[in-house]
Amino acid sequence: MLISNLDFILTDFKMEGIMAQLWGGRFTKETDRLVYRFNASISFDKKLFKQDIEGSIAHVVMLARQDILTIEEKDAIIKGLASIREDVESGKLEITEEYEDIHSFVEANLIRRIGEAGKKLHTGRSRNDQVALDMRLYTREEVLKTDLLLKELLTDLLSIMESNLETYMPGFTHLQKAQPVTLAHHLGAYFEMFKRDRGRLKDIYARMNYCPLGAGALAGTTYPLDRHYSASLLGFEAPTLNSMDSVSDRDYLIEFLSALSTIMMHLSRFCEEIILWNSNEYQFVEIDDTYSTGSSIMPQKKNPDIAELIRGKTGRVYGALISLLTTMKGIPLAYNKDMQEDKELTFDAIDTVKGCLALFTGMLNTMKFHKEIMAQSAMNGFTNATDAADYLVNKGVPFRDAHGIIGKLVLYCIDKQTSIEKLTLNELKEISPVFDADFYDAVSLKTCVEKRLTLGAPGPEIMKEVIGLEKEYLADDWQNIGLYLTDDWQKYDKNGGLI
Ligand code: ARG
Repeated sequence: MLISNLDFILTDFKMEGIMAQLWGGRFTKETDRLVYRFNASISFDKKLFKQDIEGSIAHVVMLARQDILTIEEKDAIIKGLASIREDVESGKLEITEEYEDIHSFVEANLIRRIGEAGKKLHTGRSRNDQVALDMRLYTREEVLKTDLLLKELLTDLLSIMESNLETYMPGFTHLQKAQPVTLAHHLGAYFEMFKRDRGRLKDIYARMNYCPLGAGALAGTTYPLDRHYSASLLGFEAPTLNSMDSVSDRDYLIEFLSALSTIMMHLSRFCEEIILWNSNEYQFVEIDDTYSTGSSIMPQKKNPDIAELIRGKTGRVYGALISLLTTMKGIPLAYNKDMQEDKELTFDAIDTVKGCLALFTGMLNTMKFHKEIMAQSAMNGFTNATDAADYLVNKGVPFRDAHGIIGKLVLYCIDKQTSIEKLTLNELKEISPVFDADFYDAVSLKTCVEKRLTLGAPGPEIMKEVIGLEKEYLADDWQNIGLYLTDDWQKYDKNGGLI
């Protein structure tokens, strides 16, 4: 009854021709079609198609080297796999839902194309180590692609910083004006955040770069596999050291999702500031027309939708992290089907973050900064009060007393609706005789910023040094470790031999 009620789920699904599955010998009945559909992963793991073929090629090359397959069988298999890849890429062969998963699709098509030799592809392998490998190959490449997008953002950010060393703006704490900074300095904070994000990706890459192939279903295999060799063919540092862990480890995905969540958190904070800055109240920036949207009812509106969407999508990426952590928390060793749930959410999080990074960079590059308004804003709100106190300290007043005197001065200004630097010397002297004519220069916006010369502060001279260091950082690229991208994997020639 219940099942027939769920029939609508299957209306777009043709049952004829399904069951191209890799098992069935010990079964006397066919799988229920709803069960088949519920269990199948082809609709999303087809994304792993290239990785599946790549891993299979490395596997058979190793099998032949170990005399488990003949050279002829290996060549036939590689040729068949290469032709499947070509046909899928050209659109001649479609990955359809009649297959349970991408592994079944590749193997079934291989056997269809080359016959008997194709049936030997899975010798000494299980779908458990196969999917662990596919996912790892996919993720490893996505770590690099995410890093490249971050690097692009950092490069553009640095060039905006370089041309805004003397663009004054207020720095805030509690969203209250605090002390003057520069745009270069403010953006530099985000530079540090995205730099740490890249560091996390680098660490993840190094930790995950071990090959699970050869772990079998959970307990290795009795064939004399050379796991070091297949690992090296696939650009891994080494093979993994415990077969049970190899098939059930999803830590690298959790780490990656955590790093992606942190990237989104940084983008979201930045977006929040841009939304504020772009508001009529601030007017520090104007988001370009090409990155804004209008309202269907209010003709005057130009909305920062892209910034808001990036901020919004942050929750979605956090969701993926929490979801996978929760999925993994109660799974006994070794492989369990729960782990299939790792894919959709990881794919979605990766695509989301890559999209957000690219769009954010575009929005930033086309944004106009209203430097005059920023400087004007830095001048009101008593952002020079700390410097006024420091002035008194330089004249010998203890800091705590100076703090009290300037506090009174601020109160006086609020009452008179004026600002510290606009008071006459007489007014100043009434509050403290220590004030002198050199006070005005000491509390000017320019001085307040220029004098902040501790490492990491906004003073343009020290910021220039920091920018020099950031340039060195960008030039010294961790990706120079030797990229290994699936698309470049052309180690096999068209006739099936390894080049
Ligand atoms: N679709 C499966 C996954 O993503 C592949 C592994 C299947 N292994 C198994 N023992 N059923 O996890």
